[in-house]
Amino acid sequence: MGSRNRIEVMHGVNLDQLGRRDPALYGDLSFDKLEFRIEGYARDLGLIARLFQTNAESEFVEHLHRLDGIADGLIVNPGAWTHYAWAIRDALEIAALPTIEVHLSDVEHREEWRRTSVVRDLCLTTISGRGPDGYRDALVRLKEELDR
Ligand code: DQA
Repeated sequence: MGSRNRIEVMHGVNLDQLGRRDPALYGDLSFDKLEFRIEGYARDLGLIARLFQTNAESEFVEHLHRLDGIADGLIVNPGAWTHYAWAIRDALEIAALPTIEVHLSDVEHREEWRRTSVVRDLCLTTISGRGPDGYRDALVRLKEELDR
């Protein structure tokens, strides 16, 4: 088998508005700059990141459906969908890829409702509260998984 290095990085609802959201929670990077940074982290690790963001749940689901044969690993930050979107959970299960859940903010120590994640148990791990660095941690973890 050739090297498995294709990582899909999927952002959900409202994450395109980074830069306008509370910097105390989400930092002050714009979404474009965050994506640029993620691409750089991936490149440094010999991985290829493909980036996707949508505010439409159906598009997020359909994108997951289309990953078969295109991606070797997955990073998801579904935004608020994390906490209740069972259709996204089902689509993640269908995609059946090694997946890491990332949140910029520390969802465990915010409002009670953010502590629920409907995708967590399908993921290798969840990284939250590390800001952009959390994506680098996720890429390192995925690389370990894909190199095994
Ligand atoms: C988020 C956390 C979610 O609770 C929130 O709804 C978001 C962003 C994060 O990256 O910290 O939109 O996923």
